[in-house]
Amino acid sequence: MCAHPKLLIPAFLILVGRVFAAPINPVHAPHAMVVSQHELASRAGVEVMQAGGNAIDAAVATGFTLAVVHPQAGNLGGGGFMLIRTANGETHFIDYREKAPAAATPNMYLDAQGNVIEDASVAGYKAIGVPASVAGLAYAQNKFGKLSLQQVMAPAIKLAREGFALAWEDAQDLRNDKYLSQFSESRRIFQHDGNYYRAGEIFRQPQLARTLERIAANPDDFYHGAIARELASSIQKGGGLITADDLAHYEVKEREPIRGTYRGYDIISAPPPSSGGIALLEILNILEGYDLGKLGNRSAQSVHLTLEAFRRAFFDRAEFLGDPDFSKIPVAQLIDKRYAAAWRESINPSHASASKDLKRPEIFSKLEQYATAHPQLAPLREPAHTTHYSVVDPAGNAVSVTTTLNDDFGSRVTAEGLGFLLNDEMDDFAAKQGVPNIYGLIQGPANAIGPGKRPLSAMTPTIVLKDGKPFLILGSPGGPRIITTVANILMGVVDYGMNIQSTVNAPRFHNQWLPDVSDVERWFSPDTVEKLQQMGHKIKFGEDSGERSGYWSDGECIAIDQGSGERLGASDIRNNGKAVGF
Ligand code: GLY
Repeated sequence: MCAHPKLLIPAFLILVGRVFAAPINPVHAPHAMVVSQHELASRAGVEVMQAGGNAIDAAVATGFTLAVVHPQAGNLGGGGFMLIRTANGETHFIDYREKAPAAATPNMYLDAQGNVIEDASVAGYKAIGVPASVAGLAYAQNKFGKLSLQQVMAPAIKLAREGFALAWEDAQDLRNDKYLSQFSESRRIFQHDGNYYRAGEIFRQPQLARTLERIAANPDDFYHGAIARELASSIQKGGGLITADDLAHYEVKEREPIRGTYRGYDIISAPPPSSGGIALLEILNILEGYDLGKLGNRSAQSVHLTLEAFRRAFFDRAEFLGDPDFSKIPVAQLIDKRYAAAWRESINPSHASASKDLKRPEIFSKLEQYATAHPQLAPLREPAHTTHYSVVDPAGNAVSVTTTLNDDFGSRVTAEGLGFLLNDEMDDFAAKQGVPNIYGLIQGPANAIGPGKRPLSAMTPTIVLKDGKPFLILGSPGGPRIITTVANILMGVVDYGMNIQSTVNAPRFHNQWLPDVSDVERWFSPDTVEKLQQMGHKIKFGEDSGERSGYWSDGECIAIDQGSGERLGASDIRNNGKAVGF
């Protein structure tokens, strides 16, 4: 257990100061809004809408721009999920998650003794999954956008070529990363060959600009043409497994989003291969049985019950979730409200459960038999270091996108001659059953490594409807904390009556079943923490350096005022993001 925050007064005061200096009201705009982790990326989305594009054009513009201005997680070399809700009420979920290469094997990160080789799935060429973002963004733009790909990529290309001033935080990240300097291309581009970038310095990426121009001219080149050949050859030269054939066989998938309800609101979220939507609904279904509003925002009692719901959803995640194209996932049972009611009965209102003693309620197998016997009744589904952005356009099209390289800067490998970083998404698989990945997640056989398989994600792009109309567009980075952050933000509005900015700002807390600890941010009320400890919660305070919040989750969210239709954008106080609207 960590020291109590009273022992860390200087860091605590700095962070409290940060909270009080932070905006408590969202950015208001009458027509449209983009919220992302970088102001320039939000502005790119707005620019494209002002030129006649819709929310999907804006999302694609923001996505490509993040690949330039936010190399920690914005990417060409990673993957993501895009949830679209069109103004006429259709929903689309675009899965552009990376895949394991054909040569991947379940034991590829184990040594001769069967032990996990440290960092093998985290940094370097063997950690790379088949990059999918270019395919996903081009697919979305082509199918749902109004402008040309060249038009929506223009802001990204300009910023890569002409450069932009680095923020202090970004310069720090580039300098301090543990692995970037191990890869010569990454060291040259992102660390100026050891002559590190400073805050305010202009960061230009001419090689990336050229690659973006080639993609804008023909996105298929990334998978079937010259870029594919150059990329595969650069990865293989470094000892990675990805071939031109892997790139040629990558396919974007449209999946049915996961759907459910919470206190009368409709929730639309990410289906497998993300665990996000299922876990979010499981959490909300469990909590729907309590009057959280009456218990009070961040009261020990409401936090206790919420942590217990988190614990149970992550217990199920570890057991059942993986790539739906390879494993049968009991979606209907997991998000069934009767299952949640049975879980509720296992929650002691005044004491924390021990994670190792959790037992799945018996009703689960009965629901399984019921779902098998009544497939037509499979309920709640329609006829399924990271960054998030949310967009809404004047017509009311809403887009929620979470995209990732996995770790900050991914595998830290830069594609030679192409100027972009490649993911380390292979670490999202279970390298060995029972051994935690970088997020401390224990995962089951459904998420074992297999050729062509998509690693299980926690990304949770979500859209909430009120009376059938878009109300909240939510999402966050943060590995497993994504799920609990989205739940916390959503409950802030629905249960505690907070505005979207206040709920994004509010202190976060998290439990993921194992390890059996609950993370809370440092500015949590010490009295509440003490009460939670008395209830048996093992509290760990979120990491930070004292100067800068190290908490992993940054909600980038939009609410839509149901009366006036105003767009209310909330960028997280924990980063340099920005809500930009018009
Ligand atoms: N790479 C983090 C996630 O997909 O959950």
